[in-house]
Amino acid sequence: MQICRSTQAMRDWRKDAGQVVLVPTMGALHAGHLSLVAHARDWLDRNGGGRIVTSIFVNPTQFGPTEDLDKYPRDEEGDLALLRGAGCDSVFLPQVADIYRPGAQTHVEVAHLGGILMGQLRPGHFRGVATVVTKLFNIVQPQAAAFGEKDYQQLALIRQMVADLDIPVQILPVPTMREADGLAMSSRNQRLSPQDRAAATVLSQALDQAQAMIAAGAGLQAVHDALQARLASQPRARTQSIDIRDAADLSQPDAILRPVVILLAVRFGDVLLIDQRVAHP
Ligand code: PAF
Repeated sequence: MQICRSTQAMRDWRKDAGQVVLVPTMGALHAGHLSLVAHARDWLDRNGGGRIVTSIFVNPTQFGPTEDLDKYPRDEEGDLALLRGAGCDSVFLPQVADIYRPGAQTHVEVAHLGGILMGQLRPGHFRGVATVVTKLFNIVQPQAAAFGEKDYQQLALIRQMVADLDIPVQILPVPTMREADGLAMSSRNQRLSPQDRAAATVLSQALDQAQAMIAAGAGLQAVHDALQARLASQPRARTQSIDIRDAADLSQPDAILRPVVILLAVRFGDVLLIDQRVAHP
């Protein structure tokens, strides 16, 4: 497995790499990331073969001033061992100064999708995501890139961005991986206290209940109220947002007539967890 620690090293490796799928990550890898790598391999196998590049870059521009950039878990050695085991071909591990050079003036902003939902809760977050993903696409020049459905809004935003900017990268959505008790896998789970880790199962339980209610024909307000009550029943959970949106474009529905996505953001201590579920009426 080739390790490229600079943009130049990545560009040099890329020249002879043939077809490439990029798996963008911020490290602290877990089985959810390995599932992205597996989907990348599957896509290559179905599309004439090629190489997988995983990027590991804790992108400072997607963290707000009061957010957990310094506390974000980092484990380079563990990450490299996992990627070797998963059959990744190359790892891009750039320094912040290599990605954000002095004097840079350009960023990428997806106007509407970047400003709603998590964009309101975390101002500037999606501008940081869109900018770094564009830069990673330009450096690695992949044919396809894998993103988790857990970050549903991020996936929608990146799809919009590649369409708007004619970026020739196919976006591969990958289903959320869950722990045995239903908690969506996330690097942030490592930062939960044992008590908060146990309490965090309330997210998937609330989603299960809401999904069943929608399948049985319940209306928007009833589902919203049930989600609120279920989350409030867990004293360690501080609900930040509950949203039920059209699954296709994240618009606000008046009624549940088409598939919707339920989006939850809940704080446990200082750790913000998100989870989502697509539900069909
Ligand atoms: O989903 C993530 O881990 C990050 O937002 C991404 C896509 C790697 C950009 O920094």
